[in-house]
Amino acid sequence: MKLNIGVIKGDGIGPEIVAEAMKVLDKTGQVYGHEMNYTQLLMGGASIDVHGIPLTDETIEQAKASDAVLMGSIGGDAKTSPWYQLEPSKRPEAGLLKIRKALNLFANLRPAVLYDELKGACPLKEEITQGGFDMMIMRELTGGLYFGERSTEEVDGLMTAHDTLTYNEAEIRRIAKRGFDIAMKRRRKVTSVDKANVLDSSRLWRKVVEEVAAEYPEVELEHMLVDNCAMQLVKDPKQFDVILTENMFGDILSDEASMVTGSIGMLASASLNESRFGLYEPSGGSAPDIAGKGIANPIATILSAAMMLRFSFDLDKEADAIENAVSKVLKDGYRTIDIMSEGKMQIGTSEMGDKICGYIG
Ligand code: IPM
Ligand code: MG
Repeated sequence: MKLNIGVIKGDGIGPEIVAEAMKVLDKTGQVYGHEMNYTQLLMGGASIDVHGIPLTDETIEQAKASDAVLMGSIGGDAKTSPWYQLEPSKRPEAGLLKIRKALNLFANLRPAVLYDELKGACPLKEEITQGGFDMMIMRELTGGLYFGERSTEEVDGLMTAHDTLTYNEAEIRRIAKRGFDIAMKRRRKVTSVDKANVLDSSRLWRKVVEEVAAEYPEVELEHMLVDNCAMQLVKDPKQFDVILTENMFGDILSDEASMVTGSIGMLASASLNESRFGLYEPSGGSAPDIAGKGIANPIATILSAAMMLRFSFDLDKEADAIENAVSKVLKDGYRTIDIMSEGKMQIGTSEMGDKICGYIG
């Protein structure tokens, strides 16, 4: 099979971690007989440096012409990078939000799994993590506060800013369906997270999610308020199978979920539209403080590439091979610095990529 993959290396550690994911994809292609055809795309700070804006229409068209896009991370240090002297709509993050919207990537899947081998890196007590946990955060990605009308202006002599949180029932229904569909392939439980005790948008969310739930009688649905969910994630993460939530809550809870797995450097993510197209990226940021040092953890990006093979290309066997290779390397005791613990062997970014390749095929 020929895979046309758009590649956004991005900023900070982006180019380093994407290089390892491409290495792993190439190895997988060799072993299973697939041709990887990459098109480099510019986005974020790297695009600002060349075009003055974080995402050009040409890049959007190139992304649309690909079967899937693999991405590193975008953005720089807000205190020191000249990108942050630009107005907000021209900064690196604006490119990310624009491509999500332009490609209609409304469903963001972030799996948070505690690997047995990484229990040492997990900040939770052993009695909480015993038996491990495996949850999927289904985050709505093209609505809510991120895309509502916003402004900053002077009102009665005071600087005043406002952001708006809007959802219509169709937006809620399509993400809820995705959440229930994936629950059917897992442990058949959906925890819908909202703030229905305060927000109208959450009350509509809850109503529509209940309507969708009626179409999935085999799936257990529970509602949870977002503040309680933040607490439950550290108190008893095992209880979760699929967490279904809106954009902003999903942003916050997915960082928290990643940390209880040991490191944000482990958390993959897929952003999907109605078709098979998806953008695959690690959930972590561009970590400009460690960029270029060769110490970043490439596993989240490598696992994102595995998700790409699974969701956009239906290559389950190949995706399994990558995921198993990651487990084996962890079992062997190799660690990047972020997941390092006593008695393990610390290795760098590209060595980690090599070790994972070594277990494929
Ligand atoms: C994420 C990131 C982005 C988001 C930022 C970089 C805009 O935190 O993908 O979680 O908030 O969605
Ligand atoms: Mg985030």
